[in-house]
Amino acid sequence: MLQDKKVVIIGGSSGIGFESAKQVIAEGAKVIIASRSEGKLQNAIEQLGDKATAFTLDTTQEQQVQSFFEKVGKFNHLVVSAAETSGGSFLQTDTAHARQLFENKFWGQYYAAKYGAPKILPHGSITLFSGVVAYKSMVGSSILGAVNAAISNLGQTLALELAPIRVNIVSPGIIDTPSRSKMPEEDRNQFYATVRNKLPVKRIGRAEDVAQSVLYLLQNSFVTGTVLHVEGGHILA
Ligand SMILES: NC(=O)c1ccc[n+]([C@@H]2O[C@H](COP(=O)([O-])OP(=O)(O)OC[C@H]3O[C@@H](n4cnc5c(N)ncnc54)[C@H](OP(=O)(O)O)[C@@H]3O)[C@@H](O)[C@H]2O)c1
Repeated sequence: MLQDKKVVIIGGSSGIGFESAKQVIAEGAKVIIASRSEGKLQNAIEQLGDKATAFTLDTTQEQQVQSFFEKVGKFNHLVVSAAETSGGSFLQTDTAHARQLFENKFWGQYYAAKYGAPKILPHGSITLFSGVVAYKSMVGSSILGAVNAAISNLGQTLALELAPIRVNIVSPGIIDTPSRSKMPEEDRNQFYATVRNKLPVKRIGRAEDVAQSVLYLLQNSFVTGTVLHVEGGHILA
């Protein structure tokens, strides 16, 4: 079903976006990945092979997003996993930092949907990324929770407004990706152990788990406006 389709994955140089690129290519599609770091893109392209091409792009820059889609032209599916996030106490977080989280994860996806949608071919789709802290309140995640909730809501309304383009939202739980590479290893292991013990599935998520869900959303033409939770039962725990 994805044979020879053109799939744009913004954030495809790392983690969930990278695994999604791998799985989409395995289904026969061509992939365009985009992110800020040339080094990460180069490394990803070497692993993805000749079905993948790369563009440098910072989604916080509206003009860059607009000209990126002009260069890409028409395509079938858009996936936006690009984000740089962090947590922190509400009272101790600078307002500028809180705004930066919105700038990166909310406005980045907003620009991608706005300038990407007109280029999407019939039967195409958009997949945006929310996250578990929008649905399970956690201390230290007030701002990120608000960003994620805003994205879920934006995506569901776009499913109506951009129809027949399908728009879905993936909401990952705690997934082991390079997104936590700046965290000291001991703290990260401790965090993962706490989450693992709490979850019904007794493990941390893998990028592949979420990529499988991305693939499902691209392929199932009867699914739109869905928030797909891929979180090992975290909301119930
Ligand atoms: N991992 C988790 O536990 C988890 C939990 C809940 C939700 N999520 C969500 O899942 C999505 C994917 O996360 P991940 O864990 O795969 O993260 P990741 O491994 O850090 O990958 C993030 C990707 O986004 C790119 N990126 C960041 N800011 C960008 C910008 N302004 N413009 C363009 N590209 C940008 C990064 O590349 P460059 O640095 O080269 O730009 C990288 O390719 C994100 O929306 C994240 O919030 C993840």
